[in-house]
Amino acid sequence: MGNDTITLLSSREIEKMRRAGRLAAELLDYLAPLVRPGVSTLELNDEAERWTQKQGAKSAPLGYHGFPKSICTSINEVICHGIPSAHQILREGDIINIDVTPILDGYYGDSSRTFFVGTPSPIAKKLVEVTEECLKRGIEAVKPGGKIGDIGAAIQEYAESEGFSVVRDFVGHGISNVFHSAPQIPHYGIKGKGKRIRPGMVFTIEPMINQGTWEAVVLEDGWTAVTKDGKLSAQFEHTIAVTETGVEILTL
Ligand code: MF3
Ligand code: CO
Ligand code: CO
Repeated sequence: MGNDTITLLSSREIEKMRRAGRLAAELLDYLAPLVRPGVSTLELNDEAERWTQKQGAKSAPLGYHGFPKSICTSINEVICHGIPSAHQILREGDIINIDVTPILDGYYGDSSRTFFVGTPSPIAKKLVEVTEECLKRGIEAVKPGGKIGDIGAAIQEYAESEGFSVVRDFVGHGISNVFHSAPQIPHYGIKGKGKRIRPGMVFTIEPMINQGTWEAVVLEDGWTAVTKDGKLSAQFEHTIAVTETGVEILTL
């Protein structure tokens, strides 16, 4: 199939996506209490890998286009794709996005949350809360018969009304027994534009919302994407399935 062919999943496949998605949520629940000052992002990675193997699953990021670790850990000005490291120690007041994608029985569950390390600054707290609300509003905009642009429009309208900006360079994506496929799901855009949303589509919505400029720069390691102005960025991600009547969140 071509790269822009949107796969519609059968109910049998959606059941497999449900299991993989639930595992992603359980993994984030498992990691949440480990997020505290003094912990390295490599320790979080190693805990995630160990837990994932114990469930009979695999970590999709490991080796994906050469990505060297099992999860992405993105602290403060890091937008996404931060690489866990023993040298990266969480500090009081940091925000950290942990993005996990277990593969179970061949199907992928992709989810991320942004956590507070200790007590956040007022601006960090607001950014994270607004970003979580952006994901919620994006999901609510998914309607069978609607358009992909409805999702980004809802997210952008809310994020910008709160004084924040929406990252353009990274988007949500179709997901099934492959990690990334069509359609692309921008987190900005215009209501009524883009491809039609149909029952059986399964994709992620994963808004990255910045305190300052939306512009991103990728570091020398080829992965770590940071804000161009060094200000904070937050992200939340769910994998969702479009149903006959609405939407089912698979990563709860
Ligand atoms: N989980 C990320 C996403 O939401 C992708 C990570 S790709 C990696 O699409 F190679 F960086 F792990
Ligand atoms: Co992800
Ligand atoms: Co994703």
